[in-house]
Amino acid sequence: MAISIHPITPTFAGEVSGIDLSQPVPKEEVATIDAGMDRYAVLVFRDQHFSDEQQMAFTRNFGEIENAQGGNITKEHELRLQRGMIDVSNLDRAGQPLDRNDRRRMFNLGNRLWHSDSSYRAVPAKYSMLSGRVVAKQGGNTEFADMRAAYDALDDETRAQVEDLVCEHSLIYSRGSLGFSELTEEERAMFKPVRQRLVRTHPVSGRKSLYLSSHIGAIVGWPVPEARAFIRDLIEHATQRERVYIHRWKPFDFVIWDNRQTMHRVRRFDETQPRDMRRTTVAGDGMTVEQC
Ligand SMILES: [Fe+2]
Repeated sequence: MAISIHPITPTFAGEVSGIDLSQPVPKEEVATIDAGMDRYAVLVFRDQHFSDEQQMAFTRNFGEIENAQGGNITKEHELRLQRGMIDVSNLDRAGQPLDRNDRRRMFNLGNRLWHSDSSYRAVPAKYSMLSGRVVAKQGGNTEFADMRAAYDALDDETRAQVEDLVCEHSLIYSRGSLGFSELTEEERAMFKPVRQRLVRTHPVSGRKSLYLSSHIGAIVGWPVPEARAFIRDLIEHATQRERVYIHRWKPFDFVIWDNRQTMHRVRRFDETQPRDMRRTTVAGDGMTVEQC
């Protein structure tokens, strides 16, 4: 059966069929998926049963796997998954749901805010690839917003205003906005803010998009409250219903998205029950702006 991609909404997100990702993927099919990402920015694959090793092997078709260091407060000895795999579950090493007050859980609640993965890294992520091994019975949807459509829908005045703006992104800001600010000196140093352009241009399609994220805490040269109020406005604009695709997880769904063109967030679910989601991340290929 040949690979094919069908649009889920008229302009955004596609469903891929005719491919088994547990098997090595031929070059032509990798190219088809890549072209699908350029066009749809989010791709959904159903019924993909594979091991962590197979997920990583598939991921490497699109570039290097991003180094996860500096992205979380979970310590090396607490990790449930091997290097290369990002644990987006609510589980500890023993496979038990984290306690309500566990600081790792509180930190991970930041995923409920609209964001782009790794926008807090000087070289931010390209693709994220998320496998739903055990999904929530209710809730736990992942929502995606099309940031190209968000850019296109700006009025002329705002479009001119955002064009050359540079924002500061950090996990300190996104977690701080939820009231989680108990970080050690070491963690603060690890989460030092980085700069990103607010407008990005896709290298293949040439389409512009708003590079927004809840990790933004400042705009270079702006008073902080004005910057935060402006970013809130833009995020509200970008996440209007007509620009959002809601993914309702079934077991073994595999969803991949382009962090350069989308934002996403997870919705509430019963965290006393296991939800085992495993991510791999394709590293980006450069900074969006010089760091200072
Ligand atoms: Fe994320």
